[in-house]
Amino acid sequence: MRGALCCERCGFCLTVKGSCAVLNNFWYGLAHSPAITSIPRQVVVMGRPLVLYRTVGGRVVALEDRCAHRDTALSGGWVEGNCLRCPYHGWRYAPDGGCTEIPANQPGVAISRLAKVETFPVQERHGLVWVFLGELPEAQRPELPSLPEYAAPGWRAVRGEFTWSGHYTRVIANTVDMSHAPFVHAAAFGRKEAPRIQTYHIESERWRGSASIQFKTKPAYFLKLVLGKTPPDGSITSTFHLPNVTQVHHRFGRIQFILFLVHVPVDERTTHTCWLHLRNFVTHAWADPFMHRDVVRTFRQDDSVVRLQPPGPVPEQLNAEVHAPSDGLEVAYRRLRRLCGRLEWASPTQNPRITEGASP
Ligand code: FES
Ligand code: CO
Repeated sequence: MRGALCCERCGFCLTVKGSCAVLNNFWYGLAHSPAITSIPRQVVVMGRPLVLYRTVGGRVVALEDRCAHRDTALSGGWVEGNCLRCPYHGWRYAPDGGCTEIPANQPGVAISRLAKVETFPVQERHGLVWVFLGELPEAQRPELPSLPEYAAPGWRAVRGEFTWSGHYTRVIANTVDMSHAPFVHAAAFGRKEAPRIQTYHIESERWRGSASIQFKTKPAYFLKLVLGKTPPDGSITSTFHLPNVTQVHHRFGRIQFILFLVHVPVDERTTHTCWLHLRNFVTHAWADPFMHRDVVRTFRQDDSVVRLQPPGPVPEQLNAEVHAPSDGLEVAYRRLRRLCGRLEWASPTQNPRITEGASP
């Protein structure tokens, strides 16, 4: 059963012994679309394995990765048309999770109605696979984050994956943290001599919050070639979108780039991020490996501090940590996440709004 009062295996809500830390009833970005093929792929969400595969018709299917017969991982099997075949005794599952064939059955023996696995709604958007972890009917499900630049002319995307040694909420908090760059990224674009950040305003609407600051960078990595030794002042807009997306939009005059990140919550100490880097400059393929390398280098610097934090989610109680005014966006994330956790799901009739400020 999924839902507010989940079992210990579920992992899809905030309510059980502090070990469940995934919000219920949201679309989760879980994989890059091109990575999901007719070869089944396992994705672990807070300790719970799902299997993703693409049918012969091109549709992505998400099933519980556990055969109803003997608990074998279906991701070790293979796709036949629209169905998935278990590698152990060959039970065949349809996209709706129902078993449609038990090869060893004697003639005339019906398939038990219990022979089925859980199935999850799927959609593909922005070159990513989104899986709905909840029970709401389609019309009531929260919307996905928008990313118009993904399909816009003049933009080019690079994609990749990165595994962090930290809980996904810690990773989200890191990627919307406004004040760490002069320290964590001092060897790259962070300016240690200019750590102060201006007062900023938080924009909020359902399921998301964002803030913009002016940003002085020092030239680093590939951007050095584009911006020169004395880059113009730029701005950063950082956004979180519940449950597992963050976005950082950099602007230096006409030059822009965007990091769009889906943080897959694997376990208390592991997050697997599928990332897109979108740029509107040097949109030739030869520059892609440089972009890829720069993103991974930056994530490694961030992971060097995220891994020093305790396992498990950011504290639910705001006063369990000390916040500075410059932490406002992170605090907003904690507030909205906690509010959704207390609602037990993303209610379409509720419209939670975060309030500005760093105080608990
Ligand atoms: Fe899957 Fe037996 S374990 S068919
Ligand atoms: Co960082």
